[in-house]
Amino acid sequence: MERLDKFLCGSGAGTRSQVKELLKAGRVTVDGKTERDPGRKVDPAAQEICLDGGALGAKRRMVVMLNKPAGFVTATEDRQEKTVMELLPENLRHMDLKPVGRLDKETEGLLLFTNDGALLHRLIAPKKRVEKEYYARHEGQAAPEDVAAFEKGLTLADGTVCLPAVLMPLGPGESLVTVVEGKYHQVRRMLASRGMRVTYLERRREGGLTLGALPRGTVRELTDEELGELEDGFQ
Ligand code: URA
Repeated sequence: MERLDKFLCGSGAGTRSQVKELLKAGRVTVDGKTERDPGRKVDPAAQEICLDGGALGAKRRMVVMLNKPAGFVTATEDRQEKTVMELLPENLRHMDLKPVGRLDKETEGLLLFTNDGALLHRLIAPKKRVEKEYYARHEGQAAPEDVAAFEKGLTLADGTVCLPAVLMPLGPGESLVTVVEGKYHQVRRMLASRGMRVTYLERRREGGLTLGALPRGTVRELTDEELGELEDGFQ
């Protein structure tokens, strides 16, 4: 069971406030009877919910990709900080999207959102071991011993043991890092543990999904091909 207003928003009937007006105006019926209470609990699988006489289908599953800019926290709400939810365009704000995993406030790049709770849990389950690739700018320069230490699996200063990861030096102060887990501040802490403090971090890939040319601060829906990839590659 879910709230009627939530179901109406999720099925694309409108924003929270538009839905309130639709209900007030008597344009919504549940099993043939006009329903004006936004908080009424409904079971969309078992009840017929209509707007202006037309039946509303189940919530449309949606997965979108954001190219996150620095300065936004990955949270659905925060008292002090700007959240990634503020970067979603108005037409996606009422789709009940939640961030998949987390990027630090200052980290940029690929962040997925979905309104499919089951998919969300599958994607963030630690045993999934989904590859995540980061571009990092950092102090110092990665040496062959650092590459080997990443490959072996680092132990951080607080004793946290990391799974084997790939460090690929790109040049002085620049590397690509690929990890298969998502511990707190992981990439920053891994590089710092080898004396390379991170000054910039961008996630460029998750599994087979890449940021491509998506401009910073913008969002796009995944293509059907990418959704297939997500289901297969992230199994
Ligand atoms: N590792 C980090 O240190 N920060 C992120 O945001 C993601 C991975």
